[in-house]
Parts: sequence; C-alpha cells; structure tokens
Amino acid sequence: MKKSTFSNKKKPTLTYIIISVVILVIAIIAIVYFTSDSVGKNEPQQGSQVEQEQNKDTEDENTDSEQPEEQSEAPIDSDSKETDEEQVEEDPKEQDGNVNNEDKEPNESETSKVDNGYIVGQTLPTEPTYIDGVLIANKKYPLPKTFNPGENVEARSAFEEMAAAARQAGYELTAFSTFRSFEYQTTLYNRYVERDGKDNADRYSARPGYSEHQTGLAFDIGEVDRQDLWLTSEFGESEAGKWLVANAHLYGFILRYPQGKEDITGYMYESWHFRYLGIPLATKVKESGVTLEEYLGID
Ligand code: DAL
Ligand code: ZN
Repeated sequence: MKKSTFSNKKKPTLTYIIISVVILVIAIIAIVYFTSDSVGKNEPQQGSQVEQEQNKDTEDENTDSEQPEEQSEAPIDSDSKETDEEQVEEDPKEQDGNVNNEDKEPNESETSKVDNGYIVGQTLPTEPTYIDGVLIANKKYPLPKTFNPGENVEARSAFEEMAAAARQAGYELTAFSTFRSFEYQTTLYNRYVERDGKDNADRYSARPGYSEHQTGLAFDIGEVDRQDLWLTSEFGESEAGKWLVANAHLYGFILRYPQGKEDITGYMYESWHFRYLGIPLATKVKESGVTLEEYLGID
C-alpha cells in the first residue's frame, strides 16, 4: 500500500515539474526576444543623441571659427599700445553680484544660439546699424570688417573741451584708447583670450567687429598722472572719475558700461569707457538712468 501511495503522488509532481520547465523556457525565450527587439528600437535614438552632441561640438567649433584668425600687427597706436585694457581688474564683489549668463543654467536652445552674449553663427554685416540715427556696436549688432572711420573728429573736439573743463576743476584727463581698427581689435581680443580664456575675455573685450572702439566714438579715459588707475574700477571712485561721470553728458559722452548692467550691455563695469552721442542725446540717456541699449529699446 505504501509503495502504491508513493507511486500515485510522484506522477502528478513530475507533470508539474515538466509543465513548469516548459513555461520557464517559453518565458526565457520571450524575454530574450523582446529584449533584443527593444534594444534594436533604441539604437537609432541613441545614435541621434550622439549626432546631436556631435552637432553641438560642430557648432562650438563654428563659433570659434567665427572669430577671425587674422593676426595683423597692431598699429603702434598712441598710448594704447601697452595699456589698452591690459590692466583690467575684476572686482570679485562685482562678479558675484552681477547677473551673469554664465551663472545661469542655460537651457538647450540658449546654448545653441547664444555664446557669452553673441549670436552663434552670426556673420559680420556689410553695413553698420543705426537705430534712431545712432550708430550701434555691441554683441548683437556688429560692424562690417571694413568699417574703418578713424577717430571721430567731433568726438575728439568734444573730448578736448571736456578735458579743458576737467583741468579747471583740477583733473588732467587723457583719452588713452579711442579708435581701433578691426585688425587691432583682433590682436587685442586674441591676446586676452590667450591670457584669460574666452569666457573671461568676453566680459571685458569685444570680439573683432563688435567693438564700439571701431566706430571711432568710444574713448577710454583716465587721469594723466594716475596710470595705475587706468582700466580699473577704482578710477570710477577717484575724484577725477566721479567728476567725469557727473559731467560727461554736458560734452556729449555717456558712461557706456555701468555697474550692474552686464546682462544688458554684455560687458562688466568699465569706469573708463565713454561713448560720444552728442550733447542732446547723451543728456537724455544720462537723465533716463538707463543704458544705451535700454534707451534705444534693443536690450
Ligand atoms: N572693452 C570694450 C568692451 C571693447 O573691447 O570694445
Ligand atoms: Zn573702451
């Protein structure tokens, strides 16, 4: 009886084992099949992600190649040859306080379209841009490579008048860098990139074709006997610098890159960089308390 009972119980157990094994095998085959199918489906997606990365890299390269490589010799040009913005000091407080695109986490479309304020892939125009009759040169509005007007005569004469007034007040001002050709700006910009890297250089030096100095209307101003303050934010805190910022509009100039406006002008505070606009417009911009970009509605 015992034997028979044992034999009756064993048969169903064997059947269950066989059925389970068959189910398991089918399940494994199914998993292998579907897994390999879905990998196949993912491959093109991964491929296109790689392509996107490669495109991004290519765009970056294009951005770099947008920067002219021409290294023509800088004209030995007035006082600017050694001093021109070489001594720029970056105020750490200013860097921390400013709104800076580099600090933001840019979304993908921003990354692909804008590089430190420049429009990626933009080529230099054949004509300069005038907005409401005002010649504009900034990171969004470049100049033709061939735009080469030299120092503006009216601006120079206004500067001399302003310098005479400053002298009466006890300050001896000089314009140590005014007109710069496209080629000279190329030399300067490339030098700064080599020294400080592109991201830092883009905060204080315009890429070739984008400098207001190429208009002949930008004057970098300092005190004759205080060369140590040239191209520093401290000049703005000196008595001469304060006199200048308070009176420049009376002679047609504005402080072009004020403190805390880097996100609008594209450049860090430059206490020394003044732009000639003529007395009426300079006065209106000064009284408005906004940047030239904001005043013209191109911010
Ligand atoms: N330093 C100003 C932004 C220029 O290079 O034109
Ligand atoms: Zn300047």
